[in-house]
Amino acid sequence: MLSGKKIILGVTGSIAAYKAAVLTRLLVKSGAEVQVICTSAAKEFITPLTLSTLSKKPVYSEFVANSEGEWNNHVELGLWADVVLIAPASANTLAKMANGICDNLLLATYLSAKCPVFFAPAMDLDMYQHPTTKQNITKLADFGNHLIKPNNGELASGLSGEGRMAEPEEIVEELTLYFSKNQPLQGKKVLVSAGPTYENLDPVRFIGNYSSGKMGYAIAEQFAKQGAEVTLVSGPTHLAVQSSKIKRIDVVSAKQMFTACAENAKTADIIVMAAAVADYTPVDVAAEKIKKAGEGMNIELTKTTDILKELGKQKSDNQILVGFALETTNELEHAKKKLENKNLDFIVLNSMKDKGAGFGVNTNKVTFIDKQGIKEELPLKTKQEVALDIVNKIISLL
Ligand code: CTP
Repeated sequence: MLSGKKIILGVTGSIAAYKAAVLTRLLVKSGAEVQVICTSAAKEFITPLTLSTLSKKPVYSEFVANSEGEWNNHVELGLWADVVLIAPASANTLAKMANGICDNLLLATYLSAKCPVFFAPAMDLDMYQHPTTKQNITKLADFGNHLIKPNNGELASGLSGEGRMAEPEEIVEELTLYFSKNQPLQGKKVLVSAGPTYENLDPVRFIGNYSSGKMGYAIAEQFAKQGAEVTLVSGPTHLAVQSSKIKRIDVVSAKQMFTACAENAKTADIIVMAAAVADYTPVDVAAEKIKKAGEGMNIELTKTTDILKELGKQKSDNQILVGFALETTNELEHAKKKLENKNLDFIVLNSMKDKGAGFGVNTNKVTFIDKQGIKEELPLKTKQEVALDIVNKIISLL
């Protein structure tokens, strides 16, 4: 269940840090990718070499990575992670987390993270029972962080009681349980298309469009986060896939995109066509570069296959089909027509008139229109947020 999950393991200054080695090993064994971040105090208890060997990645600790001034980007780390796990979480780190203090890389990453955060306290009995610690833990849980309760038992101080960090096996079990409950698309096969298509005129020229692929890629990543197995058919873009649950098929032309989509649609439970497919393609592709001649030039074009329409014809009863409509005039009317013609469950309308919406930018403003004609207009959001809305709407239809 942790296969392909990106986990930031934050290790802080507690004697229980020695358990971080076993924890790292168990996480890696269960298929997770683990990035360890140690506080300076943690390094007094366990060496980064042990943790980097087990995680197969360098351990991060400082903001500045080397003498060249390269830095460990906490914002990127926070966005990379599917989950942040702080184990052991010392009383000091808990207090800082509860109060927004970020005087080390781990705390800055915690503040930047958008994913679920788990923390496994480890400290002496009296520290654990102190009202400030109790208050900090309550505060952190109220923020939506997940407490992995410490066990009762013998403590390093010689005292016996609550404060002993949960065993690595228990921590892994808790994470596994969380992901199995929170992945509604586990076992579902999803097909997403993204990006533009290029229709060749000759060996050096093509007819294309300004689609960056960002919307489709964000949708694919969101599906993967919810546990789905994703096939992403991508036109030419500079984007990279983050999740290992996404299989990417690169295509160039509308024809290639059709072949790849048709092949993968047969087994898909959900299909989202976010690609900006060319509607027309040159009748002839010149074998050599077309030389300049005359004052004008005509290029004969022929219609490409409307991929979404074809998929709509073959749609099975329990398959969900979603398309996009990019419009500049009579937006609602055109989008509704496309919804009907292409046999969609719902359509995502983009109006090029909306500021911050459309090609290239990181934001989008969309309206959902479903088969029943119900219209849902969303405010301007990041493409990641819009992707989450689309995926959640699909989940609600399942
Ligand atoms: N689409 C497709 N194959 C095509 C053209 C479009 O699968 N050859 C899909 C797009 O991925 C999108 C939806 O159809 O999900 C609508 O695309 P859009 O360009 O808005 O509409 P068109 O149907 O091409 O109509 P028009 O260009 O006339 O608005």
